[in-house]
Amino acid sequence: MNPQDTSKWIEKDRKQLHPVYHPKSHANPLVIERGEGVWLYTTDGQKILDGLAGLWNVNVGYGREELAKVAYDQMKKMAFTSNFSGMTNLPSIQLAEKLSGFAYDNLHTTLFASGGSEANDSAFKTVRYYWKRKGKPGKYKVIARKGAYHGVTLTSTFATGLEKYHTMFGPAPDGFIHVSAPNPYRYDGELRDGEGVGEAAARAVEEAILREGADTVAAFIAEPVMGVGGVIVPPADYFPRVRAICDKHGILFISDEVITGFGRTGEWFALKHWNVKPDILSFAKGVTSGYAPLGGIQISDEIRETMESAPESEAYMHGYTYSGHAMACAVGLKNIEIMEREKFPERARVLGARLLDGLKKLLAFPFVGDVRGLGLVCGVEIVSDKVKKTPDAQMAMKIFKRAQDLGLRMRPLGNTLAFAPPLSISEDEVDEIVKRLSAAMDTVV
Ligand SMILES: Cc1ncc(COP(=O)(O)O)c(C=O)c1O
Repeated sequence: MNPQDTSKWIEKDRKQLHPVYHPKSHANPLVIERGEGVWLYTTDGQKILDGLAGLWNVNVGYGREELAKVAYDQMKKMAFTSNFSGMTNLPSIQLAEKLSGFAYDNLHTTLFASGGSEANDSAFKTVRYYWKRKGKPGKYKVIARKGAYHGVTLTSTFATGLEKYHTMFGPAPDGFIHVSAPNPYRYDGELRDGEGVGEAAARAVEEAILREGADTVAAFIAEPVMGVGGVIVPPADYFPRVRAICDKHGILFISDEVITGFGRTGEWFALKHWNVKPDILSFAKGVTSGYAPLGGIQISDEIRETMESAPESEAYMHGYTYSGHAMACAVGLKNIEIMEREKFPERARVLGARLLDGLKKLLAFPFVGDVRGLGLVCGVEIVSDKVKKTPDAQMAMKIFKRAQDLGLRMRPLGNTLAFAPPLSISEDEVDEIVKRLSAAMDTVV
């Protein structure tokens, strides 16, 4: 396609309002025409290594014919039918069966949604439902963490702990509380003598429960590895401590694994790294590798039981037109089959270690303050002063733009550059990420 076509596409694109929009950030978008493996091709002839797998989700890489075929076959047979109570369809039955006990052995029931925000909104409604059924309607608050990203429905916006998502959308719904995240590089909470970051951040959760009153708190929500907040990998003791605190005070634990689910961190689901199980799991993205919009929650057997024993007047009046979408579920099922066949969690572990090793070499640059990651999700934090750890978002943006010119896509998150390439990436392609990023850092002005 010739470059003039690209400006025409960009002009026409103005009829669309893009997510997280500001005119400045969308002045000159990349117009993507196709993808293959880890590579994206633009209408003006650029070939870009997609170091973020779309939006942390194209786990199996682009252009998988098997997924196209399964979508085609299911659409021909029946793309959609209602999945509301009283009707069901075969792909949603099969995918729910596959997922039963797949992530954690206490979660056997799935409610499908179309994405991660809907999944978290469902989780928040479900914890309210649960506590009402238990005769404790006063328990409705949710404790989340500063820097968390949980999506953009009204509730997930305010569960999100990033203020810029709140600024134009307040007032906030009641009951979302934020505590310090267990960030080993820059912990912003109170650290007592001899206390590690994991212990201090877990203490912050308990203090919030005590301050609010356990009889008002329904749930705690966390991403096992914080994504949009800057790829924060917690210390090993954090989640076991928080799980114990939740149990002690009767608080449900929601694991938001929209990014970390389906192999990304080197385990199928990330709390496994710390031997912890949630009461509710939110998932999306990797379940279909982005080949169809799908997400959902899985609930514990205990929560399911409260629905089975409910009178009709206390029915679970929640769910979406596209809950259990037949085509999307068929794609999800095939996608998981591919990930199992190609041993994705293991690939993420091995190739993630290779990526992290490569990125750690960049600590030699005076502006690379920290490099961290777990499996194939990594962050490179840019600072103007390594001793003071002064965040340098401007420099991060410059590196991001320079890397894009050199054919490497990542995501600038404040002063952190985030990487989450397809899990199908090869060793050479991992090395290419490091090479291109290093070249961008070498030539950034
Ligand atoms: C951890 C987490 N939760 C929820 C969401 C929201 O998902 P969606 O954009 O599919 O609504 C995201 C999206 O990036 C996410 O990273």
